[in-house]
Amino acid sequence: MTAPLPTDEAQRLESLRRYHVLDTPPEQSFDNLTLLAARICQTPIALVSLVDESRRWFKSRIGVSEAETPRETAFCAHAILQKDKMLQVCDAQSDLRFADNPLVRTDPRVRFYAGVPLVTPDGHALGTLCVMDRVPRSLGAEQLSALRVLSQHVLIQLELRRQVRELGTEAAKLRRAETLLSLQFDELTSKKADMAEDITERKLTQQRQRMFLQELLAEREKERKRISCILHHDVGSLAVGMSAHFDAIETALRSENPQESLHWMNKTRKLFHKSVACLKGLAVQLRPPELDVLGLSAALRQHFSRITIRRGTSVLFLETLGQRRLPEDTATILFRVAQEALTNAIAHGQAKQVTVGLKASKEEVKLIIHDSGKGFDPTEKLSQERANMGLQLMQEMVVSGGGRFTIDSERQKGTTVRVSMPLETAETGPADFTANGAAMAEETKTHYGRRSPAHADIRPA
Ligand SMILES: Nc1ncnc2c1ncn2[C@@H]1O[C@H](COP(=O)(O)OP(=O)(O)OP(=O)(O)O)[C@@H](O)[C@H]1O
Ligand SMILES: [Mg+2]
Repeated sequence: MTAPLPTDEAQRLESLRRYHVLDTPPEQSFDNLTLLAARICQTPIALVSLVDESRRWFKSRIGVSEAETPRETAFCAHAILQKDKMLQVCDAQSDLRFADNPLVRTDPRVRFYAGVPLVTPDGHALGTLCVMDRVPRSLGAEQLSALRVLSQHVLIQLELRRQVRELGTEAAKLRRAETLLSLQFDELTSKKADMAEDITERKLTQQRQRMFLQELLAEREKERKRISCILHHDVGSLAVGMSAHFDAIETALRSENPQESLHWMNKTRKLFHKSVACLKGLAVQLRPPELDVLGLSAALRQHFSRITIRRGTSVLFLETLGQRRLPEDTATILFRVAQEALTNAIAHGQAKQVTVGLKASKEEVKLIIHDSGKGFDPTEKLSQERANMGLQLMQEMVVSGGGRFTIDSERQKGTTVRVSMPLETAETGPADFTANGAAMAEETKTHYGRRSPAHADIRPA
């Protein structure tokens, strides 16, 4: 007679699967227990038998060669129906449930069976620890209680197995998490290093900018001092002189001496012209009025003629800008660059000839200052932490105005400073054209100072 299914069959099978024991190889710990069961109960057969969906599978077996048998013939299938009691069948032939069982009628011709259900902590009977004999018999009280104790050990082994396995899974999960963590840690560390590098780089840039600003402020202060000196010494002493002359004129007038008063008046006029010239020179140095009134080309012309008069250098000015007016900022930047480059060419390059090219298209204006002086190493000078201000200022002004600045120089050959500044187009901005509307004037070529055939031809490309 086939045993009915237990009422918790689905959960029972689920529980059995959680032990991951089905179809695993024999293990000494289980075999020891079946051996003890067989010895204590004095039976030829002892089994740790687990009832699967359609078979019973032996985790440990003594006296049976098959690893599994069909569930329908299993005594255990009956034993697991009563979880809290052991099943003892003293003579299977005379028990209705087993009389026609193939295990009873044919080999191994079982007559006696005693099985203790293996009930899990959550209350499901997975199988039995059972003993069998080929003769009818029964177990004594001590044998029964020993079998019960052994069955508890089987269960402890199963539990241990499950926990070791779960621990193993947890450990593997932990290891995976650890690996992941260490990878993330490495990534964070390298990000931190990158960030530190970024911060260091930023700090260095800020430091450089601070230094540049400090130098700029110091330079401005120097310039103010210089202007103040000119005003105080030159213009101031002229004014003091004039004031003394006025006193002399007054005395001459009071003593009705027209000759004398005329004399002092002429002297005063001379002092007055001198102070006007001095003030004009100062104004030009600060910002040449031509730049605002007549435009860049005119301002440069004025500047070149003043320089060449003073220093005896020849400047060849090639330009196609004519009277075209550039945006004020662009004109100022280009004027300052030309002024500084020319000063350097004369002071450091000791150049006798300088060529300046100025050319504007719709999109940009280009300025080139070439001198055939002594030359130098621009990379070295520009990279010096505390370089002089001229080169740095030129570069900063051009770059901050959105333009490009390059300087090429070779010793004994000369130096070329190249600047190009973007211009806003007619639709978008105020590129100012000449009164007659021409976008591009004809090239004009003007020499300042002593004429020289040796001027390099550096028309901006
Ligand atoms: N055209 C040039 N020919 C030769 N050497 C030059 C030229 N321009 C610059 N130099 C070299 O580069 C250095 C730096 O020039 P920079 O204009 O920055 O400073 P500076 O002219 O010495 O001082 P300032 O701050 O007053 O301009 C100069 O001292 C000089 O050695
Ligand atoms: Mg300079």
